[in-house]
Amino acid sequence: MAKPASPSKSPPPSSSSDAPGAAAAPVIDIEKVTKTYQTGDVTVQALRGVDLVIQTGEFVAVMGASGSGKSTLMNILGGLDYPTTGEYRLDGEPISRLDSDGLAGIRNRTLGFVFQSFNLLSRTTALENVELPLLYADVPARERHKLALESLTRVGLADRVEHHPNQMSGGQQQRVAIARALVTHPKVILADEPTGNLDSETSIEVMTLFQELWRAGITIVVVTHEPDVAAFAGRVVMMKDGKVKSDRRQEPRDARQALAQAVALRQREVAEEAAEAPGAANDAAAKDGAAHNGEGGRL
Ligand SMILES: Nc1ncnc2c1ncn2[C@@H]1O[C@H](COP(=O)(O)OP(=O)(O)OP(=O)(O)O)[C@@H](O)[C@H]1O
Ligand SMILES: [Mg+2]
Repeated sequence: MAKPASPSKSPPPSSSSDAPGAAAAPVIDIEKVTKTYQTGDVTVQALRGVDLVIQTGEFVAVMGASGSGKSTLMNILGGLDYPTTGEYRLDGEPISRLDSDGLAGIRNRTLGFVFQSFNLLSRTTALENVELPLLYADVPARERHKLALESLTRVGLADRVEHHPNQMSGGQQQRVAIARALVTHPKVILADEPTGNLDSETSIEVMTLFQELWRAGITIVVVTHEPDVAAFAGRVVMMKDGKVKSDRRQEPRDARQALAQAVALRQREVAEEAAEAPGAANDAAAKDGAAHNGEGGRL
């Protein structure tokens, strides 16, 4: 992979969060970025000078209180919005010099998006939802179909391609959304609170998938309010009042292991419940089978 286009900046503290073999090229590089919203008489400074360099192959969690500017930052990183002032280089390209077609082009080649509310088309199958970005890119039907199938297989949903969103669990819908983000083979996945609507066990499942993609070399940026979710990233950027308050590396928690532990805990609870009230054994087993409702789990 090519050397970074702007070697003037120092790289982040260490490379412990990089996937094996990842090249040290900043795929995201923003400098002194501000964003001001003007709504009627009210001016909101959503970002007040953010510097952030993300190397190819990093897994970054962005945290911070509500209103601290996380989504504003993600929209700028995703090329969905321009900064008011400051520079943004996406994959080495200064986006301020691109017109909207140029921006859409680099966005389609480089980025995949995942949102809290999945944003799937409800009257459309999983396969058609995943094909959508390719439709916009004028990929022929046969190729679209093949790529969408590959992408759904990659997220473990090969047996759900004909299902509509309302025929799938929240976790499955989010996996369809991840398959849709992956279908164009992006370098970076930007996810704004992707586990915000999921229970804790399903959240870990989704993070397992993100860790797999990260290990395969995709750069991941995830916004989350949950420290338990941020624990799966190799770097945590904390926002406060439109600025980066802290930026630290950490040893990522292994999501696959965490998932196994969460499943074992839930099964133990179900078994204990059944032992305490033998008559309720079937109820408990049925409840366990119906949903991963680990959220209300108590020790
Ligand atoms: N389109 C907009 N027009 C006007 N103000 C906006 C707009 N989008 C965001 N803001 C304001 O900018 C600030 C940052 O908002 P942002 O959505 O980035 O916060 P956030 O950190 O993502 O919060 P949350 O955790 O609640 O999602 C807030 O004060 C918000 O009201
Ligand atoms: Mg937000």
